[in-house]
Formats: sequence, structure tokens, C-alpha cells
Amino acid sequence: MTVQLKKSAASATPITVVDRASFAALAAKLPAATRRWLETVGFKGTENSLALVPGADGKLARVFAGVAGATAPFALSALPLALPEGNYRLADDGLAMDLEAAALSWELGGYRFDLYKPASRAPATLMLPPGPAAERGLAQAAAIAATRDLVNTPAEHLGPEELSKAVALVAEQHGAKFKEIVGDQLLKKNFPAIHAVGRAATRAPRLIELNWGSDKHPRLTLVGKGVCFDSGGLDIKGAEGMRQMKKDMGGAANALGLAALVMAFKLPVRLQLLIPAVENAIAGNAYRPGDVFKTRAGLHIEIGNTDAEGRVILCDALAYAAESKPELIIDMATLTGAARVALGPELPALFTRDTTLARELVDLSMLLDDPMWHMPLWAPYKPGIASDIADIVNTGKGPKGGAINAALFLEYFIPAAQNWLHIDLYAANDGSRPGRPAGGEAQTIRTLLAWLEQRFKA
Ligand code: BES
Ligand code: MN
Ligand code: ZN
Repeated sequence: MTVQLKKSAASATPITVVDRASFAALAAKLPAATRRWLETVGFKGTENSLALVPGADGKLARVFAGVAGATAPFALSALPLALPEGNYRLADDGLAMDLEAAALSWELGGYRFDLYKPASRAPATLMLPPGPAAERGLAQAAAIAATRDLVNTPAEHLGPEELSKAVALVAEQHGAKFKEIVGDQLLKKNFPAIHAVGRAATRAPRLIELNWGSDKHPRLTLVGKGVCFDSGGLDIKGAEGMRQMKKDMGGAANALGLAALVMAFKLPVRLQLLIPAVENAIAGNAYRPGDVFKTRAGLHIEIGNTDAEGRVILCDALAYAAESKPELIIDMATLTGAARVALGPELPALFTRDTTLARELVDLSMLLDDPMWHMPLWAPYKPGIASDIADIVNTGKGPKGGAINAALFLEYFIPAAQNWLHIDLYAANDGSRPGRPAGGEAQTIRTLLAWLEQRFKA
């Protein structure tokens, strides 16, 4: 454990947390030798800066750490892998760190994906007084780490079946019910679109389902795109585009992470998690451009491009989700490259018919530094996904507005009265920052947790 919730930590090295303003004020009150040392090493309290201060015996006596702010979710993230191994605690001088942010940011700062390559060192340990705030931080960090691990695990070791096992494990941990529909059973149980995309893979497609909570509570349904590898299918991707496609189950990983938080915090909801899990592969029985499938909802969809597979599997999952008329459906998906062209890797695109709600969520996401940005379900673009021979087609007529086209396609499967959020996300960091190493990433789940807690108050 990178963070330990324990009271007695007298032997732990104190960390004085400051920002530039508070450090300037504090410096005047420090012992002259300490102040001189900090001047010598050029410490000014700048974000993510660090100064180790030795005692007269030459041992590490104290640490000064510059942060963005006392509630910043990555405030202490630079420390666990920069400080020498050992135990630390927050000092009484300097900024009074928010304990949720302290626990979250420290734990995230110690995250590494070490399934194949052992880490060269252990992270430093932060001892924090136990309490609900710190526990809340740790629970979120655990969900984020689990999400990252799933995204980072290569397709060879995380196919539809392994993804299903990951969901079953979370279900077991929280006393939730787990079930799944596998392979040709998808046809029998009327999930033809999920089957069509997944049928060419040697690893059977499936619809994974978790249910939790009391019947008395309002229903919340989370849906995640679980494409364990996206080769593009017969409309095969280029090498560069395909290279990242182990992460095409990032929506599923995020939905599972959020589901785990909903259960850990015992939100008064009746939770359903749905993950259509497939590998978009190429074989003689692969679905083809030009094919038409009758979906679960009864709508006929034409395949304009087999690489637009996410919306195809999601349409059956969303139709199924809507059948129980939940209070709210949230789907998360690494759905389009176009959303990344529009907003870059850090800003998931949020689509919903409820524009007031969209603004509320965007504002909250900025406050929590777990951002998303609103994009429109622009109805005038609907003719762009009209098909000559079916109800709709899974690609637009040109490259423009690709994220909107995909969202509009999904909207066909959401009844008019149904509350629905669609989040088109990237689920990865291209580069490394403290607490956010390159590789798989959780996006919007801290924001959604905070917002769901408000919306479904006990
Ligand atoms: N999984 C991809 C989208 C994607 C690409 C997400 C890169 C994140 C990073 C999706 O299945 C896809 O291939 N979409 C196509 C759709 C097109 C064929 C209409 C795209 O965005 O290019
Ligand atoms: Mn694709
Ligand atoms: Zn995909």
C-alpha cells in the first residue's frame, strides 16, 4: 500500500506542503539554516517541486513539496516515486492538505503497470490519519488503478473472456449478481449486432451483465464498449491506428471502475452494468461492408465500415438497457477518432439530450480536474447516417462530424423519454505526468461519482 491509514507516525518524515504564496509566508518563520538550505537548492514552492532537508546528523529530517493546491487531485503525485523509500507524514506547518486529495494523489503517484516488468523501486509510503475523507481518496485511486490495469493489459491476455472474469471478480467483491450471454447464445437471446461484430474472432463475443442494489431504488444503467482488440475488421486499420487498439475496451474498463465506486460508496441505486465484449477480427466469417443486420431494437443497420464496430455492439446493449426504463443510462466508449481530433486526448466528449445537465457536468468536471466537454446531438446531421437500403448506416457520408454521427447513431436506440449520457473517451495518456503515466487512463469517473452522489442522495 502506497498510502497507509494509521495514526501513530512519529518516526515518519514530515512533509511540509506549500504553494508559492504560502511558501513565501512560511519561509520567514523557518529556522535560518533550513531557509538557507531551501534558498541554496532553489526551492520556491512551485508545483511538483521538491526539497529534501537533512538534519545535523546528515539523515533526512524533513521534506518540502510544492503543489497546485490543497485539494488538487494530483497534488502529491510527484512524491511517491521521487522521495527515498520509507515512511512519510504530512507536517503541521504549510498548507492543510485535503485528506481525500492527499490519499488520492499519493496513491495515483505510486501507480505503475508492472504485470510484466518488475518496478525498480517501491513507492514511498504516506501515513495518513484514518477517516472517511482519506478512505474516499483511496477508493477512487483503487478504481482508477483497476481501470488503468485493464486498459494496459494486452489483448492476448485480455480477451472477452478475461474481461468477463474481471467483471465477475468485482461482482463478487461487492455482492453483486453476475451473468453473461456467450457466443451463439447471443443470437438466441436476440443480440444479433454484438454477435455480428464478434463472430470472426476465435474468442467468443459476449454480453456481460452485473446487477446490484435494492429493487426499491431508482435504476442506474452503465454501458461500456468492450472491444478487446479493434483490428478494424475487413476495413482493416493501418499499422499506426491499430497499434493502440488493445485499449478499445477502455469504455468498459471505465464503466466497471465507476460501477465499483457506486457499489463501494453504496449509492442508493439499483445498478446495472452492461458490457458487450468482442474482438473485432478478420476471418472468413467476418461481417462485411455492405451487410445489413436487424438489431435487437428491430431497426435495420447497414455496415458502411466494419471499423465503426463500437456503435454496432453498443446498439444492442443500449436497446437492452432501455428495456428496463432506468432513471439514467450512461454509456462510455472509445468510439471515434473524430472525438480526439475535435478535443484531443484529455477531453472526453459528452453527448446528451439534456443540455442543462451537460453544462452542469462540464462545470463539475472542471472543478474536480476530471474533465469532459459537451458536444451536440445535432439532429440536422441525421440525414448523414441515412441508408438507401436499411434504416441507418454505421458511418457518415464523409469524414466530417464523425463523433456526432456516432452519437446520433446510438441515439436511435434510446427511446425519446429516456435520460441518457454518452461519453466518447480516449482512455489513455499519450505522455507521462505525475500521477498520470503514459498508458491506460480512467476518465470522468470521479466526476460522475460526485454527480451521481448528488443526484441519487439517500
Ligand atoms: N476504436 C475506434 C476509435 C478510436 C480510434 C478511439 C483511436 C480512440 C483512438 C473505432 O472503433 C473506430 O475505428 N472508429 C472509426 C470510425 C470510422 C470508420 C467511421 C474512426 O473513428 O476512424
Ligand atoms: Mn473501429
Ligand atoms: Zn473501436
